[in-house]
Parts: sequence; C-alpha cells; structure tokens
Amino acid sequence: MKRIAILTSGGDAPGMNAVIRAAVRTAIANEFELIGIKRGYAGLIGGELYPLTRDEVSNIIGRGGSILESSRSPEFETVEGRKKAVDNLRRNKIEGLIIVGGDGTFRGGALLVKEGGISILGVPSTIDNDVYGTDFTVGFDTAVSCAVEAIDRIRDTARTFERVFFIEVMGHHTGFIALQAAVAGGTEGLVIPEVPLEVEGLCLKLQEGRQSGKKSAIVVVAEAQKPGFSFEIAQEVTRRTGFETRVCVLGHLQRGGSPTAADRILGSNLGAAAIEALGQKMTGIIVGVVENRLTYTPLAETYQMKKALSPRLEQLTRILL
Ligand code: F6P
Repeated sequence: MKRIAILTSGGDAPGMNAVIRAAVRTAIANEFELIGIKRGYAGLIGGELYPLTRDEVSNIIGRGGSILESSRSPEFETVEGRKKAVDNLRRNKIEGLIIVGGDGTFRGGALLVKEGGISILGVPSTIDNDVYGTDFTVGFDTAVSCAVEAIDRIRDTARTFERVFFIEVMGHHTGFIALQAAVAGGTEGLVIPEVPLEVEGLCLKLQEGRQSGKKSAIVVVAEAQKPGFSFEIAQEVTRRTGFETRVCVLGHLQRGGSPTAADRILGSNLGAAAIEALGQKMTGIIVGVVENRLTYTPLAETYQMKKALSPRLEQLTRILL
C-alpha cells in the first residue's frame, strides 16, 4: 500500500488533530503518502484532496476542531453520492482510507467497503463516547472536563443564590458525558436516557438536601436527542417543590477547546495504529483501546452493538449523589 487518504466526519471532537498528526507521521515513517480530504464525505464526493506533509501537521496537537474540517453529507447517503466518492478515490489511486468520527461515519465507511471495495480503517472520535469497540473515543475526555469546569463554576452562583441548577450536556442519545460529569462534579442529581426519569424521586432528593442544610443543588441532564429537554424538567421541579431553578445548556462549548492530555495521547495512539493496520492489509474495522490494549472491531459492530455505561460508575451515583 502506497497512497492512503484520511478524513474527519460528523461532529468534530478535540483530539482529531492529534489523530491526523500521528497518521501523517506514521505514514511518512512507513514510506506511505498521506492525502488529506477536506470536509469529510462531502469533500470526498467533491474531490477536495491535497497531500499532507510533516509541516502541515506541526503545532496542531493542542488545537481543537479538525484541520481537515468536517460535515454531515446528505449526498453521501445516496448510492450516486457514494459512487462519486469511490470514483474520486480510484482516480487519485488511493488504496486505503482512514475515517475519523463516530457511528454515523462508520456506517458510511461500511458502505464504501461493500459497494466500492475500498480498504477502510476507522478511528473512533466523538465527544459522545457512544462507539462500541473502544473504552473511550477521542474527544470524550475533553468534553467531560469542559462539563466539570462548568459545574464547578455554576456551583458558586447556585450556592450564593440557594438555587437548583440543571446543567444540560451533549451525548446524542447516550449518557456517557453526563454520568462522568456528575461523578466528577459531585452533583446532586443525574438524568440520563439509560435510566427512566422519576421526577417525584428527584424532587424528594432535592427537598431532603435542602432540609439537611444544602445551599445549592446541581442536576446534570443528558440532552438525550432533545436539546433543551432540561427546561421541561426544571419547570416541573419548580411546580412541585417551589424551588427557584435555572437551566444552563452547555451545547457546542463541549466540542471546542484544546484537547486534554488523555485525548492527545489516545488520538496519537489510534492515528498511528490506523496506518499500521492498513499497512498490514486490515480493512473494514476500527482501531480502539479496550482495557489498555489495542483492539480491532468490525465497522458494522461499532453501530450495531450497544456500548454500555460503566455499571460501577452507575452504581456509585446511587451512593455518592
Ligand atoms: O455527536 C456529537 C454531537 O455533538 C452530539 O453530542 C450532539 O447531539 C450533536 O453532535 C450535535 O450536532 P450538530 O453539531 O450537528 O448540532
């Protein structure tokens, strides 16, 4: 294999640049040529390809976002769109493609393998951490750190005003970010899609806290595919308890910023592993880290299998929150 391409697709995540940097440098070390594709699958269809050099990836490891940019491409969801993508890869003599993103990206990659016979290697990178086949996705740790910093800041004003705050975090349809943020932020409540919401129990807990002298309460709410969902809960809690509530939706703040050391290291590890795997003629898989070991999981499993929240952490929330 001589010519490999790389793209980032779907929601960007801090640490994607570490993946790109490691892929470029490992490719050079293995005497492969690495081509960058701009704007994910949309750029692949449009032929936005350019050679990536060692200099191109200097000083990017600490930068958020993706130097390759990203998109969600409706055209790629059509057979015609994917045919254009395959034709562009063939025309440019690209023998292997690294796709960096989440489950939607891997779904698209599986179709490229099936319909175009392209060698594909996936690198899991999304703030949501909802990809089966790796304990952590690149970008998750930074998003959790962002949420924890927000919780610490909100705590100051919540305590001063004796208010109940609902902090809504991203996570698509899962509660990975919310669970870790709640434990690390020492919050009083947690609402995640994996556990049915019981407003009555939540109100009781908040009331008990107030009676025992707590000056503030923070509840972390996972967006659960309904951004703004926490306003409904806050309203209901006020109606039932009379507590003054406020909502803070963190939104895309969690997607930006300099990646944590953990995300830079994971991104570097997986970016290099993707090139090594392609060099060994592996295809149709993602590289991941499970229990500190490098793993290879078929693309289809990453979106067909459901990754579970940590049972240990979930159990801890029942004692600590
Ligand atoms: O998948 C990453 C993510 O940030 C999710 O947490 C969120 O639900 C979604 O993307 C938001 O997408 P967009 O940036 O298209 O609004």
